[in-house]
Amino acid sequence: MTQLHRRYHITTFGCQMNKADSERMAGILDKMGLEHSDDPNCADVILYNTCTIRDNAEQKVYSYLGRQAKRKHEYPNLTLIVSGCVAQQEGEQLLRRVPELDLVMGPQHANRLEDLLTQVFDGNQVVATEPIHIIEDITKPRRDSAVTAWVNVIYGCNERCTYCVVPNVRGTEQSRTPEAIRAEMEMLGEQGYTEVTLLGQNIDAYGRDLPGVTAEGRHKNTLTDLLYFVHDVPGIERIRFATSHPRYFTERLICACKELPKVCEHFHIPFQSGDNDVLKAMGRGYTQQKYYRIIDKIRTYMPDASISADAIVGFPGETEEQFENTLQLVDEIGFDQLNTAAYSPRPGTPAALWENQLSEEVKRDRLQRLNHLVSIKAAERSERYLGRIEEVLVEDCNPKDPSQVMGRTQGNRLTFFAGDIEALKGKIVKVKITEARAFSLTGEALAMAAIGSSSKC
Ligand code: SAH
Ligand code: SF4
Ligand code: F3S
Repeated sequence: MTQLHRRYHITTFGCQMNKADSERMAGILDKMGLEHSDDPNCADVILYNTCTIRDNAEQKVYSYLGRQAKRKHEYPNLTLIVSGCVAQQEGEQLLRRVPELDLVMGPQHANRLEDLLTQVFDGNQVVATEPIHIIEDITKPRRDSAVTAWVNVIYGCNERCTYCVVPNVRGTEQSRTPEAIRAEMEMLGEQGYTEVTLLGQNIDAYGRDLPGVTAEGRHKNTLTDLLYFVHDVPGIERIRFATSHPRYFTERLICACKELPKVCEHFHIPFQSGDNDVLKAMGRGYTQQKYYRIIDKIRTYMPDASISADAIVGFPGETEEQFENTLQLVDEIGFDQLNTAAYSPRPGTPAALWENQLSEEVKRDRLQRLNHLVSIKAAERSERYLGRIEEVLVEDCNPKDPSQVMGRTQGNRLTFFAGDIEALKGKIVKVKITEARAFSLTGEALAMAAIGSSSKC
């Protein structure tokens, strides 16, 4: 069915998985003949791809949705879709809350958008949240960037961290085959992409659900094997992966990252808490000591590797002393970047039912103290780049200064330098770092004279 006169808009909340899903869904809508619109108020089909990791993420969705539900009373032809994690969590209840909705679809159904939307255009109100086997998508995603691309390698999560909604909303683990992943990367290489980020909520679980063992009796489809399998895809110069889980992180993986030149020396390994009792209550399956050992190993093999992580403060029952163990870990390890969050009780998770919840005030205070330390440590980490020559993959122009382009170092530091985006987009440029801030750098490109500096953003 073609939809030549309909325009669609997608707003994406949440993590990289959701961004990747949105790009695939946009690809499906393009293929159906709808036109893309950046402005929801000009669109006939609005899709909110939602996140429910914390309460504030979920509330944001309702406020956006409320506005468009109102608009639907003026424009009855407006089609309203909620996809993603709030859709999966709330299911039918969303229709009761927002009866103007036409389609509620969980993350596992992203690739089925055409089929579901056809049912909507036929006059049905549709809810698709039953667990399914995720079918390989054959549509070309509409990617936000022409330089860097997400590639899903494993969907879902089989962990049961006591605070987390992800297993409830993303379902059980489903790995894509190494062949499908490589084929997608080859296509990206042919289309001119330079960097790929392999995605999984717990990427170390990759391949557990695929068959195959080696002669030594080892599972043959691990993340490490995957990296060896895809590392030489033509055109792809940089490979990243996220998110690593300390419980399953292996030395073999570190060695592969060191050995394979295209795999970036950057690890994203959330630790969540620096206290063993809190880690136990979270159900994370490792200790603070094990986390230190992982970081030591990485730094033994790759002293300059960037390390980032996620942490939660104010988990139920967390004492001041236990929180200080998190501060101490952050102080000792010195992360290049740390995503921090105050604990938010989530429906359907064990910890939400516990009675030892902390007050918002305590959580806010701890978050502030942790963030303060994080920026001090990140600034210290940035210092090491000063005067160095770094390879920067140029992604775009600096939105705040169009005479500059921006990109990332191998270690994932955002870097700005004077240059022409037309000439440099997608290129890896050697840049001498002249200024270092906590989370970004400024530098000068080597041999810029040959490149010119007009801005064409
Ligand atoms: N799979 C990844 C992270 C997934 S969610 C992992 O295992 O680490 C992204 C981050 O959100 C988590 O790392 C955690 O720090 C945070 N998060 C998850 N649930 C949360 C909650 N209920 N309250 C606050 N932060 C939460
Ligand atoms: Fe959530 Fe834990 Fe799975 Fe990460 S590993 S997505 S925190 S349940
Ligand atoms: Fe949010 Fe779902 Fe990702 S809850 S963080 S969009 S997996």
